[in-house]
Amino acid sequence: MSSYVITGASRGIGWAFLSNLSSNPSNTVIVIVRNKPGTEKRVAQEFPGRANIHVLQADLNDYKTLETAATDTAKITGGSLDYLIANAAYLTTWDHFDPIGTLGKNPTALEENLLANFKTNTVAQIHLFNLFTPLILRGAAKKVIAISSGHADIDLVAKFNLGNASSYAISKVALNMAIAKFSAQYHGDGVLFLSISPGVVDTGHFDHLTEEQLPGATSMFAKFKEYAPTFNGATTPEGSVKDMLDVIENATVEKDAGASLSHKGNRTWI
Ligand SMILES: NC(=O)c1ccc[n+]([C@@H]2O[C@H](COP(=O)([O-])OP(=O)(O)OC[C@H]3O[C@@H](n4cnc5c(N)ncnc54)[C@H](OP(=O)(O)O)[C@@H]3O)[C@@H](O)[C@H]2O)c1
Repeated sequence: MSSYVITGASRGIGWAFLSNLSSNPSNTVIVIVRNKPGTEKRVAQEFPGRANIHVLQADLNDYKTLETAATDTAKITGGSLDYLIANAAYLTTWDHFDPIGTLGKNPTALEENLLANFKTNTVAQIHLFNLFTPLILRGAAKKVIAISSGHADIDLVAKFNLGNASSYAISKVALNMAIAKFSAQYHGDGVLFLSISPGVVDTGHFDHLTEEQLPGATSMFAKFKEYAPTFNGATTPEGSVKDMLDVIENATVEKDAGASLSHKGNRTWI
C-alpha cells in the first residue's frame, strides 16, 4: 500500500502515471493539476469507480496553491507520502526547433522564454520538493522523482550537436542539479532524490508542426537516429511510464542518490 503525488496528470505522461498507479486499488494516488474539474471529469469517464484517485488543484507557478496542495495531501494520507513524481513542466515549441543563436535575434523573446522555463521547470520544482519533503520523510518509500530529459545531458548535446530546445534543456540541467542538492541534504535521512528521463514519448507535441518548424524537427529526429540507430519514433506514454516505474522501484539511495537516469535505468536516453 503506497501513496503517490503526481504533478501534471491532466494529460500526457502524467496521465499515464495516474492510469497505471491507480489501477492498483491499494495505492492512494493524488494528482495535482491546474484544471481540477476537467481532470475530475476525465477520471470519472475513464476510471469510474476508482476511489483511490484524489484530484487537487495547484499551479506550479503559484506557491500558495502548492502549499495548499501539500496541506491537503497530508489530510488525505494522514501526514505522510511515499512517492512524489514531479512530472509537470513548461513545454513550448518556441525554442524547440531553432538553435540558440537564431533565438537570440529576438533577445526579449529569448529572455522571456528562458525565464518561463526556469521558473516552472526549476524554481517551482524546488518549491514543490521543499513543501512535500516533510511528508516524504514520514513515508515508507521516501522517493522524490523529477521527470527530466535527455536534453539535459551536456555530453550528449556536445557530441551530437543537439542545438534545439535550448531554454528547455537549460532549465532541465538546473532541475537535475536541484535534485543533486536535495539529495546532498536528505540522503542521510534515507530519501532518494532522482531525476529520470522518459525517453522520446508521443504526447502530441509534434502533431501540428508549421512549415518553418519542420526542418528543425526533421534534423532533431535525424540526430536521435544517429545516437540510437534502432530509434524508429516516439514511444507511448504508457510504455514509458511502465519503464520508469521499474527504474523507480529498483532505485535505492545507496546506488542512485541524486542521479540522473533514463527510462532504461542508465544514461542511454533513447
Ligand atoms: N514527451 C516527451 O518526449 C518528453 C521527453 C523528455 C522529457 N519529458 C518530460 O516529461 C514530462 C511530461 O511531459 P509530457 O510530454 O507529458 O507533457 P504534456 O503532455 O505537455 O503535459 C504537461 C503537463 O504539465 C502540466 N503543467 C504545465 N505547466 C504547469 C503549471 N504551471 N502548473 C501545473 N501544471 C502544469 C500540464 O497541465 P495543463 O493540462 O494544465 O496544461 C500538463 O499536465 C515533462 O517534465 C517533460 O519535460 C517529456
